[in-house]
Amino acid sequence: MDLIEGLATRRSASAFASGCPPREEIARLIEAATWAPNHHLTQPWRFEVLAGEERARFGEHLAAAIVQDADASERAPRLAESTRTKLLRSPVLVVVIQRGDDADPERTLEDYAACCCATQNLLLAAHAEGLAAKWSTGAMATMVAAREYFALAPDDRIVAYVYVGYPLEDAKLRLPERAPAVVSFRGFED
Ligand SMILES: Cc1cc2nc3c(=O)[nH]c(=O)nc-3n(C[C@H](O)[C@H](O)[C@H](O)COP(=O)(O)O)c2cc1C
Repeated sequence: MDLIEGLATRRSASAFASGCPPREEIARLIEAATWAPNHHLTQPWRFEVLAGEERARFGEHLAAAIVQDADASERAPRLAESTRTKLLRSPVLVVVIQRGDDADPERTLEDYAACCCATQNLLLAAHAEGLAAKWSTGAMATMVAAREYFALAPDDRIVAYVYVGYPLEDAKLRLPERAPAVVSFRGFED
């Protein structure tokens, strides 16, 4: 697949076919993620990969935290259930974690950018390998229970939950819905 074509045809997937991509396949995606641009080569990322029962275990942990939350509203049981279900929608979940250093805000910002580039590499590599994927964040990315589960240090952050699996056969290729970019070309001769 041509790189530009890959950029244009990658789409987020919300549903996946059955079957779990093998661990070596996921390891290849993660290696591709680490080829992201990265100022000072700090390599600020680490990855947690959940498959099989591990997804349910993580889901149970978050669901329990949601219902036990002292500020839990009457919506809590439904939210707990949807969190559980969400985590099972793909056979593999890759959690992209930034190792932070908030004593150096410039570096933290650059490292976050590098982790985002790594996540996009991961999505594109999955697409190139014929897999489907989706980057997700939302409340799950900042939940204390999620941070504890992956033993994040105070300055670390969850950059992405990447759902990965095989594409559904009838998945339609949605063309990118993008407004033309606002661009100001300056200094060109033509
Ligand atoms: C930082 C980031 C966070 C995202 N979080 C979510 C999310 O929580 N839930 C979701 O459904 N999609 C999430 N997405 C996916 C976007 O909704 C998706 O990229 C957008 O709809 C464009 O669709 P496409 O990826 O198919 O081009 C996220 C994307 C990014 C870059």
